[in-house]
Amino acid sequence: MILLTGGAGFIGGNFVLDWLANPGAEGVINLDKLTYAGNLATLASLENDPRHVFVHGDIGDRDLVKQLLAEHKPRAIINFAAESHVDRSIHGPSDFVQTNIVGTFNLLECAREYWNALEGDAKQQFRFHHVSTDEVYGSLSGTDPAFTENHPYEPNSPYSASKAASDHLVRAWFHTYGFPVVTTNCSNNYGPYHFPEKLIPLVILNALNSKPLPIYGDGQQVRDWLYVGDHCSAIREVLAKGKLGETYNIGGWNEKANLDVVKTICFILDQLKPRIDGKPYADQITFVKDRPGHDRRYAIDASKIERELGWRPAETFETGIRKTVQWYLDNPQWVDGVVSGSYRDWLQKQYH
Ligand code: NAD
Ligand code: TYD
Repeated sequence: MILLTGGAGFIGGNFVLDWLANPGAEGVINLDKLTYAGNLATLASLENDPRHVFVHGDIGDRDLVKQLLAEHKPRAIINFAAESHVDRSIHGPSDFVQTNIVGTFNLLECAREYWNALEGDAKQQFRFHHVSTDEVYGSLSGTDPAFTENHPYEPNSPYSASKAASDHLVRAWFHTYGFPVVTTNCSNNYGPYHFPEKLIPLVILNALNSKPLPIYGDGQQVRDWLYVGDHCSAIREVLAKGKLGETYNIGGWNEKANLDVVKTICFILDQLKPRIDGKPYADQITFVKDRPGHDRRYAIDASKIERELGWRPAETFETGIRKTVQWYLDNPQWVDGVVSGSYRDWLQKQYH
């Protein structure tokens, strides 16, 4: 088995589905707190699959994590669980400190105790894979070279600061205790099952619902977009072949200004599902107040993972964004569950 945290979220959910799509794959214990960002509808196709064991709980719950490790004896842990939305971190940073920092600390401590008691091959092969973000490196100007793994940490938002802190803990557990870790720092993901508070799914759904498409500030902030399936394949590669104690940057070589991303989505929707009034979706673009402390540009230099592990993304932005728009058009049931809030019914049924 592998133990995965945050596997009902956007990237963790995609990872579980991709992992179990391989008929020979090891089983997954999926520990998730089911915050507003956790959605079991994403994993509905696994309902009767004995290889997927869902556990509703918090990575900060030491007794629970210890019990899961003792019971399932995983050969690896992949830590996706986090509070992940920058805007929410600005309004309320407390959960970010609690889950991203204290939660990761707790997971590391439980995992270290478990690993210490392992012997032989089981100890040799054990891995703790920490999933992190390029936002820990701060913001680039238009002409700066892309982030390498040696770029200084300069986080600017409560979200990125909390992720940076977790990366430092993971690093220290390797150097101090010899605990076998790998860390990946990835650029902005997009794709199926993305919660519509983030730019790309928000714009697709607002466009279809005749709502404004909000662009913060001048819309010239640049992000380096990666299709989520490519992030998942990179994580599998690093888990299998990554060198212990190393970090690997993951990116799509796809730098785009926000306004261009939104215009591209509008253009694809104009083709796939034209507005009934025949006007272009781009007419819905609305410039709104900028995000406080908004990072201007992120860009990932992904040459280390390509050179050392032979990984490259399979999707270009053009192919990935088209697939993503099509996925939102093809999956109204998942979308309606999120928009109406009924995806939270599982919790109601279970606990009330
Ligand atoms: P998400 O917000 O969609 O999902 C997070 C999941 O973690 C949810 O299912 C939530 O219920 C769960 N969770 C939150 N707190 C928890 C806790 N205390 N215990 C157990 N589970 C908890 O996030 P995502 O976009 O899937 O991101 C996953 C990871 O990848 C995060 O660590 C994030 O920092 C990192 N990352 C995200 C991106 C991106 O573009 N989304 C890019 C790079 C790195
Ligand atoms: P987001 O998807 O929140 O990811 P992150 O902040 O982690 O990069 O935002 C992506 C970019 O889009 C970011 O520069 C903020 C901007 N943005 C908008 O312009 N309008 C929006 O409504 C949202 C949610 C984001």
